[in-house]
Amino acid sequence: MKLWAGRFQKETDTLVNDFNSSIGFDARLYKQDITGSIAHATMLGQQGIIEEHEAEKIIEGLKAILADIEADKVEFSLDNEDIHMNIEALLTQRIGDAGKRLHTARSRNDQVALDTRMYVREEIPTIIGQVLELEKVLIKKAKGNLDTVMPGYTHLQRAQPTTFAHYMMAYANMFKRDVTRLEDCLERLDECPLGAGALATSTYPVDRFATAQALGFKKPTDNSMDSVSDRDYAIELLSALSILMMHLSRFSEEIVLWCSWEFKYVDLDDAYSTGSSIMPQKKNPDVAELVRGKTGRVYGSLVTLLTIMKSLPLAYNKDMQEDKEAIFDAIDTVELCLPVFSAMVDTLTVRPKNMAKAAAGGFINATDCADYLTKKGLPFREAYMIVGRLVNLCIKSGDTLDTLTLKDFRAISSLFDEDVYEALALKTCVNERKVYGGPAKESVQKQIELIEEFVQARA
Ligand code: ARG
Repeated sequence: MKLWAGRFQKETDTLVNDFNSSIGFDARLYKQDITGSIAHATMLGQQGIIEEHEAEKIIEGLKAILADIEADKVEFSLDNEDIHMNIEALLTQRIGDAGKRLHTARSRNDQVALDTRMYVREEIPTIIGQVLELEKVLIKKAKGNLDTVMPGYTHLQRAQPTTFAHYMMAYANMFKRDVTRLEDCLERLDECPLGAGALATSTYPVDRFATAQALGFKKPTDNSMDSVSDRDYAIELLSALSILMMHLSRFSEEIVLWCSWEFKYVDLDDAYSTGSSIMPQKKNPDVAELVRGKTGRVYGSLVTLLTIMKSLPLAYNKDMQEDKEAIFDAIDTVELCLPVFSAMVDTLTVRPKNMAKAAAGGFINATDCADYLTKKGLPFREAYMIVGRLVNLCIKSGDTLDTLTLKDFRAISSLFDEDVYEALALKTCVNERKVYGGPAKESVQKQIELIEEFVQARA
């Protein structure tokens, strides 16, 4: 018999029963649900809304249910629709009438708002921890490759020289922003919706400050209608996770390119790559590709949630039950991707020789050549034109700038001298870029220091 049988003259259709039920996916909120109910029952007792001894009985009953769920001794039922009603039904079954008083001055609307918020609040630090582990890997890779010169790209065309360390710290800065976005999200969700009731609180003297405090929130939410209809915290989380996945996906794309024979900048560890079922020579970057692929799932969850919410009138609507699978799947996906991605980067081997070879071939010192002339007094635009002509010459003759003879150089501009070779050496090109944020060793060391401080502040 349903809770609401008093109002109804017919049983729920079996199709509707299955359709309406969320226990299949919201069972994972059992711990948050019980924790919230314990805080609620405690407050009901303290406020004299129910008898103290009943509150105690409820709390004991709930604790026993929690222990049994954790020992895998509880079976939930579809008939009880969701985790909230399943636990309440179990409680009443076990402790009798006192159990029926638990839901006084509460609705499933504030209950589910609380449970989901607490779930998200627990998962965010796990994700932050995983991102910080990745930061440590990037720091390690950067420290080992401060002098590993490689081409930097624009339009995927070789552009200017940089180092593998500089490259790693670019990603480290992206992931740093991801951490702060997740921290912002935690900060803003730190308000407790419990006590908002269905939408308009309650006629009982509910103490929302007490439950907020007991559940570790800074304060209760300020408006009860907003409390039960707000899913911003989840949308914020899924936005932050989408951006994080976008970063992982860009990085994955680079790794896929870098371990191709066309680049061979890195070798993935055998333990972090896979073979082909037919082509014996293959070693595939499946981990990077899967992370790139799973990014779509997380974006999908964000769009699902935004679309669910876009036309909902205040306050609670059943559409909102659809939020959970999107939230859970996005969190699960990110928590699955991060550790394996970090391990893959940690174990990859850098091929500095191949990077140097590519760096030597693509005229990535052309800007430096123009700068050389500019430093001798020529306006940059004129210098740019001259170097353009030199590059054209090289392409025709199969040379690079540094293989031209001084005679070739001077045929185009008399400003060129013997010191041009030193100025065009890739090491010089990198190490002269000492500007804050740049690729010179000392600049990158500063960048590493800043990320190290960021990570240590969160240890
Ligand atoms: N299972 C529901 C959900 O996930 C709980 C809230 C139900 N509230 C209601 N008024 N039907 O959203």
